[in-house]
Amino acid sequence: MKRKYTVVNFVFHSIHYRFFSVKILPFSKIPSPKSYPIIGHAHLFFKNGMYHKEKFAEAVQDLSLKYGPIFYLKFLGQKMVLTIDAENACKLFDAEGKYPFRINMPALAHYQQNNFNCLGIVVANGVYWNKLRKYVNPLLNKSYISSFSSKNYDIAQAFVSYVKKRRNEDNMLLDVCSHVYRYSTECISIVSPGRRLFCLENYNNAKINEILHGSSKFMDGLYASFSEPPLWKFIKTKAYENLQNGFNIIKNYIDTELESENKLENTFIKSLFKNSNLSYNEARLLAADIFSGGIDAVATTLTMTLYHLSRNKKCQYTAFEDIKNNSVLYLRACVKETLRLCPTSGGTTRSLPKNIIMNNYLIPAGTTVTIVHPVISQMEKYFDDAHLYKPERWLHSSKHNKKNEFTSYASLPFGYGPRVCPGRWLTEQECVIFLSEILKEFILEYPSNSEIGMVYRMNRIPDQLVNIKFIDRST
Ligand code: HEM
Repeated sequence: MKRKYTVVNFVFHSIHYRFFSVKILPFSKIPSPKSYPIIGHAHLFFKNGMYHKEKFAEAVQDLSLKYGPIFYLKFLGQKMVLTIDAENACKLFDAEGKYPFRINMPALAHYQQNNFNCLGIVVANGVYWNKLRKYVNPLLNKSYISSFSSKNYDIAQAFVSYVKKRRNEDNMLLDVCSHVYRYSTECISIVSPGRRLFCLENYNNAKINEILHGSSKFMDGLYASFSEPPLWKFIKTKAYENLQNGFNIIKNYIDTELESENKLENTFIKSLFKNSNLSYNEARLLAADIFSGGIDAVATTLTMTLYHLSRNKKCQYTAFEDIKNNSVLYLRACVKETLRLCPTSGGTTRSLPKNIIMNNYLIPAGTTVTIVHPVISQMEKYFDDAHLYKPERWLHSSKHNKKNEFTSYASLPFGYGPRVCPGRWLTEQECVIFLSEILKEFILEYPSNSEIGMVYRMNRIPDQLVNIKFIDRST
């Protein structure tokens, strides 16, 4: 059960601050490393700087040892408060209001405005975001999602055949993530645009490979656009070109599928295009956002789950026994545990509509605040043996919640509240079906001692190629 900041909490804190003379400190007192004019804190992440931007979570963890659970950094003239305190996550989600304001992706907004004359759900904010959100919320309905499960099974079985063809003579599948990427793309294609892409069966098909490449190019361009000033308003930077070319490929794919609308098989797409409150461009953009929204996050989550199961024989055995008993509870716990140890999201960032107090500092409305979940979800304060892969911890939620009263805010890989990821239940279904079909067929082995971490991209990804042995159970 999540904790809410109620009136009682508010009164308690007011009395606490007043009578125990806890001083509320102004924003200017929030700790921060030394910064320089113009570049702010960018020097920390320069080539020979203290940290690497790919390892942002590690940088935040190190900085928090020096500056405490809350501090700020300044990039491109903007102050960003960073916190590794789960209580602050609780406060942030409570204060975000009806229209949670996620910081903008200016290059993507520029592209969408120029090409669609409107914004998509990922970049939109405020009342307009709320209007779009209503059309994707049906994806949070579990019984609606289960209508895709038989197709998910077909795709998972196609992936099993795919592995048998693609693994080498030592049963090793090299660069697992690039292959699972095809599974996640195939799964989302049945939701949006609504028809199977058949990218597992057509490995060498140039048209299909262009679509796969388009999605990753778009994500790379979007990520790279964050670390540059908005030059793309005047010239096409390399980052902007990748973003644009990648999204154009997705747009053309969606358009081609929509031209054959009578062949569309699902109600989600039909509901977008039948709706008189959405313009044709708004519907096209929503379809494209849903298609591209979770491809790499699902592929990474599955790859990292395969990695953990291949290294933890006991977990793999328990998962297989559970599947034999027609249960997927343990597999669900495995996915949660992967997302705790290797979350794809770098954190939750909001600009809040009102002043808020975090760790006794007054954060004015409009400040950008980031809850750095990849650090919080690995803290002993919230989880026992926080660095170990222990799916069991998710099987007894009441016991697990006792570690700390804010533990339920310490691992939120899909976010929380009105802006929670609309793909969370779809992801769970795709992951559990995939893993059960794989484990029925193969024993997983990780023939290396190399530990895999995560690096920052638009979504965090494994920091090296993941190679796993898929050994037939029957041999
Ligand atoms: C492992 C899989 C996934 C993870 C970890 C993940 C995580 C997230 C997170 C953290 C957010 C931001 C939430 C916030 O700001 O509070 C988000 C937003 C979003 N996700 Fe996912 N996601 C996944 C899969 C998917 C899938 C499969 C889809 C497609 C159905 C999807 C579509 C979206 C969209 C459209 C948004 C923007 C929602 C909005 O701003 O209202 N995601 N996701």
